Amino acid sequence: MSVHTPEDNRKVTTFRLIEMKQRGEKISMLTAYDYTMAGIIDSAGVDVILVGDSASNVMCGNVTTLPITLDQMIFMGKSVAKAVKRALVVVDMPFGSYQGNSKEAVASAIRIMKETHADCIKLEGGAEVIESVRRILSAGIPIMGHLGLMPQSINKYGTYNVRAKEEAEAQKLISDAHLLEDAGCFALVLEKIPAALTKQVAAELEIPVIGIGAGAADGQVLVIHDMLGMSQDFSPRFLRRYADLNEVMTNAVQNYIADVKSADFPSEKESY
Ligand code: KIV
Repeated sequence: MSVHTPEDNRKVTTFRLIEMKQRGEKISMLTAYDYTMAGIIDSAGVDVILVGDSASNVMCGNVTTLPITLDQMIFMGKSVAKAVKRALVVVDMPFGSYQGNSKEAVASAIRIMKETHADCIKLEGGAEVIESVRRILSAGIPIMGHLGLMPQSINKYGTYNVRAKEEAEAQKLISDAHLLEDAGCFALVLEKIPAALTKQVAAELEIPVIGIGAGAADGQVLVIHDMLGMSQDFSPRFLRRYADLNEVMTNAVQNYIADVKSADFPSEKESY
């Protein structure tokens, strides 16, 4: 496995992501939800850091992304943005903060930008939320779209299976992707759809398409807890694990417990 370090240390902007697509440079994106993790990922050179509403699952222990609140997303977004020097910081708009009406949507997006100092927001949906998308964009807030499997709609789907396998859903996704690009979104996440459909959408759009479980695209995103092997009970086919931190952390904690129990820790050298 080769190690990548970015040659360009300038701050990543929405404009630079589009340039990366134009010159065929793939975009790396990972989630982070706290200051320490965001600092590590940013120093390692990732292009985009997403404060994803997957925090509802991996940080808060909820079964779905629905319960996480705008205040909770803002709390995490603020911590992440403070740590990041280079990556573009994207904060997810949580369920209920933009679907109601476009006035509420723009107010939520403004709160995220004002209170977190992130660079932009991400939201799920196409035609259903286009009025909100236009209003947020007209307030000068860049938007990353999200189509395909949209976890905030899990109660409508009833399953986390691959989306848009049927022609009608695939056509709707293609039309939504163009709608979002034409409205002015700067990038699009496609989650868990057939690779051939991702390829088609990425070829048709000028903005970068970032995939998760969607095959090759202009970039890829993974949830940090999954790719570092911290979450053990989530093993979809698309997930590549780059470490087994669950094992590393369990061993470290067990060694610590043993040292405390045996009075080996603290030693004289570790005492004042
Ligand atoms: O919330 C999240 O982590 C996401 C990614 C899976 C794209 O939306």
